[in-house]
Amino acid sequence: MIDILVILTCLFIVMSVLRRYSPFQKWMAQRIDNALHKSQLTTILYSPSLRLIPKNANPNDMNNIENFFISNNTSNLKSISESLRQLKEYSIKAHNANGTIFKRTRELSNDMINQLRELQYFSKITKINESIQSNGQMIDLLIESFLNDLVNVNLNSLNNDNKKFLYEQLNDICKNVGYAITPEYQLTKILNFEPDSLYINSDQYRVVEAVSHICRDWSQPFQNERTPIEEFVLNQLETLNFNNQVERNLVVMPGAGLGRLSHNIATKFPSVKVQSIEWSTLMYICNMAIYSTSHDLEIRPFAMHYSGQLSTSDQIRPYEIQTSSITKPNNLDVLLGDFRTYVPSTGVQNGKYETITVVTPFFIDTAENLFEYIETIESLRYHCKTVQWINVGPLKYGTRPLVQLNVEELEKLRKIRGWVDISQLVSTDYEELNGYLTDTKSLYQGYYGLLKFHSKLTNPGM
Ligand SMILES: C[S@@+](CC[C@H](N)C(=O)[O-])C[C@H]1O[C@@H](n2cnc3c(N)ncnc32)[C@H](O)[C@@H]1O
Repeated sequence: MIDILVILTCLFIVMSVLRRYSPFQKWMAQRIDNALHKSQLTTILYSPSLRLIPKNANPNDMNNIENFFISNNTSNLKSISESLRQLKEYSIKAHNANGTIFKRTRELSNDMINQLRELQYFSKITKINESIQSNGQMIDLLIESFLNDLVNVNLNSLNNDNKKFLYEQLNDICKNVGYAITPEYQLTKILNFEPDSLYINSDQYRVVEAVSHICRDWSQPFQNERTPIEEFVLNQLETLNFNNQVERNLVVMPGAGLGRLSHNIATKFPSVKVQSIEWSTLMYICNMAIYSTSHDLEIRPFAMHYSGQLSTSDQIRPYEIQTSSITKPNNLDVLLGDFRTYVPSTGVQNGKYETITVVTPFFIDTAENLFEYIETIESLRYHCKTVQWINVGPLKYGTRPLVQLNVEELEKLRKIRGWVDISQLVSTDYEELNGYLTDTKSLYQGYYGLLKFHSKLTNPGM
């Protein structure tokens, strides 16, 4: 009896300590979340079609569904659902963060607070609250567009055996972000929606990153960041003299972000098949929504950047995106997945493409293992006669890299592995530096030197 009491007391003490430990809280929340949304773990979203297929589906359900990723048996629907929740929580979380900035001023003396009033510091905080609200409304439009697409593709356009199952899953996802699906399969807004609980693993840094990338890719003022990349890539593609035979050449762009470059490639080379690949569900949702929303957007990407600002109006300046005039080119597939598991669809000619060109803008330094990226690019030789690789970007290694090569080493490595350079340029001169979501009106501005190369793989596949 005493033993049991001791065990229970120890358990109680351990639990009360763990409860205050944030990784444990997150772990528990994840378990509970998994239990609540178990069915989402068993469904896979196939891109580019947006078709949802249960893991144990009848093989007939896979008819007409292309799968571009090997071992695609892990569900990505849960990740989609989580990303939608994180997007939905932008307003609450950003308002909270802005509230903290306001609350900190309470630690100041009355004199100081009065002076802040004279500076209209508090009205600045209010204006930033309004900007957050406006950004939140834009994000809501993106969420709504994406959900509408999911509902239309899976419940309205298809005679699907799994409709009831998918309806329940989609409705569950919608309800988490303030929408419901009517029995007639129409998306409706839940009035005065309040989330049941906040998503504990919400990563608002990633949300802001994805939403800011909408500006980087689609707004006019960020054209200065896009031009150096676009010019090099389009000029190199031009040298490949693609003929007009439809879809005999493939351009693959991993780490496509918000997809502007792949869009422009597809527009400029309409006979070429273009596939953009993005692993982040947040980026993917925003990219898809850009194509489907009929509302123009106005995003204030620097609203929460208090440091280095010249004025309040600079901090909250909006970037306009005329989404209503953006249409996805027919030859572009927007894919969601990990590039390292990508396999291209078969080309028109004897199952093989003439060329596959991999375009990697600001991508290769995201690799944990750069060799894996290179091996994936090289594996494409089994699907075409020639593999080309066009790269533009810095070498700013991020995610726990196993290897961090410099320009010279990377050049030698390409040679060792059978690549022949068609061109290589390194831009480090001040005028050639390239911003990346750089706030050109602030006192802090970051710029990158760019490594640009175009290489051709000499050893063809069998
Ligand atoms: C630095 S960002 C560049 C985005 C875009 N190319 C641009 O220039 O704006 C790198 C992107 O690669 C994506 N990414 C990272 N690893 C990936 C992988 N294995 N497969 C596909 N995308 C990946 C990230 O989600 C991120 O959007």
